[in-house]
Amino acid sequence: MIALNKLKKLAKEHGTPLFVVDHKELRRNLAEFKRYLPRVQPYYAVKANPDPAIVRTLYKAGASFDVASWPEFEIVRRHIEDLPEKQRQDFIWDKIIYANPIKANDTLMKLDPYKPLVTYDNYEEVKKIRRYAPRAGLCLRIKVPNTGAMVELSSKFGANPGEAVDLIAFAHQNGLIVEGISFHVGSQTTNFQNYVQAIHLAAGIYKEARLRRFVKMNLLDIGGGFPAPYDGKVKPFKELAKTLNTEIDRLFPKNIEILAEPGRFLVATAGTLVAAVVGKADRDGKRCYYINDGVYHTFSGVIFDHCHYPVRAFKKGPARISAVFGPTCDALDTVSLSESLPDLGLGDLVYSPNVGAYSHASSTWFNGFPPAKALHVNEA
Ligand SMILES: Cc1ncc(COP(=O)(O)O)c(C=O)c1O
Repeated sequence: MIALNKLKKLAKEHGTPLFVVDHKELRRNLAEFKRYLPRVQPYYAVKANPDPAIVRTLYKAGASFDVASWPEFEIVRRHIEDLPEKQRQDFIWDKIIYANPIKANDTLMKLDPYKPLVTYDNYEEVKKIRRYAPRAGLCLRIKVPNTGAMVELSSKFGANPGEAVDLIAFAHQNGLIVEGISFHVGSQTTNFQNYVQAIHLAAGIYKEARLRRFVKMNLLDIGGGFPAPYDGKVKPFKELAKTLNTEIDRLFPKNIEILAEPGRFLVATAGTLVAAVVGKADRDGKRCYYINDGVYHTFSGVIFDHCHYPVRAFKKGPARISAVFGPTCDALDTVSLSESLPDLGLGDLVYSPNVGAYSHASSTWFNGFPPAKALHVNEA
């Protein structure tokens, strides 16, 4: 994390709320991912934080990209606009996956000329892709256990493993090519068994598909879910990587390309928020602080991401349990009912580390308060 005195200086200079993105940390996280998972190509899940500056840094550092909407596709495409035609097309084939299993017809039409790899998980989607994006390659998303993940995704997406090969056959009958299988074990998965079970399920489907002569599949996409070190309880990434490497090497031959879609892991630790105390009251004996950022803004992850972000003070002093509220008139705008904070005055600054993922990305303009200003440091 950026040194506290530097954070404070930046906040004084640029005002608050200030969302500071450390690009050195982005590059470090990507390098760590590649170092411990040498067989896996990371496709940054742009939804975690679509800030073009973040996408640019990861692009320059050699990342690939998972996009899940047309605007996200456009954010990435801007970087390759000036490449010669062949290089541009190769980038789209090799380094972009459109990983939203449900796509509107007009999105498919816009995607079709780029012949991208897209995920699907049901029969209706195959019919849509055949009609509106017949030049796309397909990747079947299967449903896998999301047990214990902070954000479960399996209730919304994923074909049942039992119908997977029928769905592959159906795509082929419709003149489409299925290139591989993908899954998502749920975001912030600290239960590494989810990955083990998912890789086993995918290997079983690969085997059955081969028996039924679908031999063109050559990729496995192990999705996102890699946990950010929000607290000391999250086991080191190195440990998860060791398990993944063992299972992948055991069950998938070397010629199968392995990709992943890390979002949170790459950006969470790169973002720090600095906010200011704008109000203070004692209510029923409890100290309440009102700060100029809340759950409709950078702390939106409290609602959408089921995440808790600690609020810390720069100031030292005897601490007491305090509530921290956002600036809007809604009582839902509660950052935390229990933070250990010293006595703070109006204008004092507080900070929250590790807020880079699913926070600023889902910030709104509710109640007239704009999203926090984003400030990028250590850009290459
Ligand atoms: C299809 C897909 N891929 C990747 C991700 C990124 O997941 P994470 O941030 O847990 O790595 C998500 C998150 O929702 C997703 O839906």
